[in-house]
Amino acid sequence: MIAKDRLIFPLDVPDAEQARKHVKLLGDQVGVFKVGLELFVSEGPSIVDAIADLTDAKIFLDLKFHDIPATVLRAIRSGSCLRRANFITVHCDPVLLEAVVAEVDDHIKILAVTVLTSLDSNALLSLGIRKELAAEPMQLVLQRASLAKQAGCAGIVCSGREATAVKKKFGGDLIVVTPGIRPDWGDVKKDDQARVVTPYLAVKNGADYIVVGRPIREATDPVEAAFMVVNEIDRALQDRRQIS
Ligand code: C5P
Repeated sequence: MIAKDRLIFPLDVPDAEQARKHVKLLGDQVGVFKVGLELFVSEGPSIVDAIADLTDAKIFLDLKFHDIPATVLRAIRSGSCLRRANFITVHCDPVLLEAVVAEVDDHIKILAVTVLTSLDSNALLSLGIRKELAAEPMQLVLQRASLAKQAGCAGIVCSGREATAVKKKFGGDLIVVTPGIRPDWGDVKKDDQARVVTPYLAVKNGADYIVVGRPIREATDPVEAAFMVVNEIDRALQDRRQIS
């Protein structure tokens, strides 16, 4: 994979027209376009075909399934849009993950969401997570990554802060996808992301893919911003190669 293949751009926009505009604008810089809740709810499953018809980039259908296994399986069986997806996300619940892995075609990589990058220690404590685990989200991420691996998932979603530990424990066997990316040079206003790192650091720490939304979308020149992210990815890959 070259640097660009590792950049995931979330199409967090309200409608198909905006989505098409971003795919056309960023198609040369982005390896994977992510369809998330906003676009999927507003446009319905046909948006996945519409995007896939527009680009050679991969498609990530990020619906973060989280329900009882029977309900999630029924949703998956009824979703023909899944055929065009290269990645889907499921929250970390061992029984659910195993059921989805058994159901889904091999061409779709299942990514288990470990601990959302918007959650910090205080948020985890308030959710009832034990003090020792909440104090250091890394331990919770590793525990959930282990469940994902056992269930047969292709990869996990975690922050760039945990990528090194995940790669050390599971090696290249588990794909690491990292949102919560905030470049040094970006000017995203204070937002909901808590466990953030730069594109360089995420990839240097071992992330296979990074999700970069607002720092590109809200930039004065989104193409230039995407180009700068890809440069950082490239630099981190070179540094990774030198170390290994
Ligand atoms: O870079 P930005 O914060 O705008 O990226 C937001 C995107 O990252 C959203 O599409 C959101 O769903 C995704 N995300 C994710 N997993 C997380 C946190 C955010 O996929 N843990």
